Amino acid sequence: MKNNKNILKQPTVYSDLSLVIPTFNEAKNIVPLVRQLDSCLKDVAYEIIFIDDSSDNTIEKIIEVSKKNKHIFFEHRDNQRGLASAVIRGIELAHSEFIAVMDADMQHPPSLIKEMLKEEIKNHSDIIIPSRFMPGGDDGGLSVCRKLVSFVARWIARILFKSIRKVSDPTSGIFMFRKSIIKNKTLRPTGWKILIEILVIGEYKNITEIPYKFQSRRYGKSKMSFREQINYLTHIFSLLCRSPKDRRFFVFMCVGLSGVIVNLIVYDILIKIFSVNVLLSGIISASTAVVTNFILNDKYTWCEQKNDQKHQRLIKYIVVSSLGIAVNALILALLFYVFSLNYLLSNIAGIAVSSIMNFKLNDIWTWKYKKND
Ligand code: GDD
Ligand code: MN
Repeated sequence: MKNNKNILKQPTVYSDLSLVIPTFNEAKNIVPLVRQLDSCLKDVAYEIIFIDDSSDNTIEKIIEVSKKNKHIFFEHRDNQRGLASAVIRGIELAHSEFIAVMDADMQHPPSLIKEMLKEEIKNHSDIIIPSRFMPGGDDGGLSVCRKLVSFVARWIARILFKSIRKVSDPTSGIFMFRKSIIKNKTLRPTGWKILIEILVIGEYKNITEIPYKFQSRRYGKSKMSFREQINYLTHIFSLLCRSPKDRRFFVFMCVGLSGVIVNLIVYDILIKIFSVNVLLSGIISASTAVVTNFILNDKYTWCEQKNDQKHQRLIKYIVVSSLGIAVNALILALLFYVFSLNYLLSNIAGIAVSSIMNFKLNDIWTWKYKKND
């Protein structure tokens, strides 16, 4: 049996729903999980795909139940580990358009699968997410420390990614989606949070959330570790780099910073090498920075949106930048002279407000942000 354990067993039933279940040392959970799923999904044509990286006898248990249950197939990976990569592998192998991902330890109640299917039929949703954080939901199965980490993780994702703001439980390990929303997309197998990857990278219209109560683990223990929490941050950073609309503001700020450096270098050269007077040097260096900023923003920040001619975009950019300088000066003067705020803080406030305003105006006017981008 050991020799055959990583041979893929194909299911013999046609399926409407593919259930992808990653397993790592879940031997005691396999039999009760399959039994519960089976009784909840009596009238559904489904397949269960186990992707197993275990070092205990989980795969033997899976092989055992698969002999009696025609819905099950599996793959055992000898030298690989990783929740996200296991889920991605399961998605690759799935035969149906509807894919549900869930944990093997029954902390996600198996009865949820049927509820998600009903919701799908009712709302034609592209993604269905059972949520611990909406009325009727409960994250009871986690320790206080895990709850705190999970809270911070959700907020980091919400601040950085537009598509995640409307979702109450983006770090959920259970969800259902249509395979077509990730067609032609590359999912990167970093860390655990494959739902966040799908929410940011996928192309979809509607999401439905349904409340559920996260259960306590009966057998085995959680595999969440400090290392996985660091992996989460790496994942978020890689996702930000791959999502043009979410990374835009950060790229814009980096370009702004490069403009300050260009400004100072040109200013210094003009004064020291060409003996140009201070005022003229200031004007030339600031104008040079506006042009280099424009070139960089055009190439990197708004790399995919080109509606106007380049010279039209440059003119608009100069108008926005001038407006930004005026707003910066106005706020600085107001805070410093009227409210007697510290001179540095007054300028920082002015820079912050004018940077956000500049970004927004450039986004909707200079580079004409399209809603569906
Ligand atoms: N194949 C494979 N490889 N599976 C793994 C690996 C791995 O390296 N690591 C963990 N798993 C499997 C476990 O066997 C289990 O089925 C599932 O992934 C989740 O692991 P748990 O260790 O039970 O995670 P948790 O309960 O602490 O957290 C889960 O629930 C939260 C709430 O939905 C995870 O799904 C979290 O992502 C989620 O936020
Ligand atoms: Mn668990």
